[in-house]
Amino acid sequence: MNRKLIAGNWKMNGLSADLQTIREIAAGLAVSAAAPEALLCVPATLLAEAARQASGTALRMGGQTCHAQEKGAFTGDISALMLREAGAGFVIAGHSERRSGHGETDAIVAAQARAAVNAGLTPIICVGETLDERLSGATLRVIEGQLAGSLDGLQPGSFVLAYEPLWAIGTGNVATPAQIAEVHAFIRQFLEQRFGQSGQSVRILYGGSLNPANAAEIFPIPNVDGGLIGGASLKAGDFLAIYNTAGALTV
Ligand code: 13P
Repeated sequence: MNRKLIAGNWKMNGLSADLQTIREIAAGLAVSAAAPEALLCVPATLLAEAARQASGTALRMGGQTCHAQEKGAFTGDISALMLREAGAGFVIAGHSERRSGHGETDAIVAAQARAAVNAGLTPIICVGETLDERLSGATLRVIEGQLAGSLDGLQPGSFVLAYEPLWAIGTGNVATPAQIAEVHAFIRQFLEQRFGQSGQSVRILYGGSLNPANAAEIFPIPNVDGGLIGGASLKAGDFLAIYNTAGALTV
């Protein structure tokens, strides 16, 4: 069984006053090797200070996107090495909000993920279908296309995947256990076909309206190796409740 990863995505939320939440989360984590790994992907402006305050605890820090190039004339962008230097160990790549809002294609996502790996970061590569795609029966075809295009040049062990159905993000409409089980099994099969046995060790997170009330139903689903949590990760109590649910299922 893969060690679970409970990752928060703070999106464009978080000012210095919210470092208190990070301290509370860091203080509330279990410290055994079997406990889930805990991660917060915070705005780049908070990263260095958040990493400093979380140092010596089990809480890891991550960025939310990075540029595919190492450096250069890309006003407003941030490189993987900058995130790494600021204290990140992970970075989200190809979140649907970046794919749709910033025109990030599968090829761009793959290039960002490779840049992340080259800088010593673990990319969390997101895939997921829209409501229209699900309703028209295209879910697995869409996921397959995103996987095929977003993993170019990557090796198992260097990245994490996240399945985030777009219609479940920020809506309160969580996917059903059957829907999650189907897509995660499909992703696992894809990974095994592509990487052989090592495909089993790639962690696949579920994301989309995960909260303390539904975590106990989601984490035991086969091939669910953790969660990517938006809204509920902004509250220390909610994030820790989700983390503890995952931990209780691990032991
Ligand atoms: P919510 O948990 O707010 O639905 O967000 C999910 C998400 O997009 C995490 O990356």
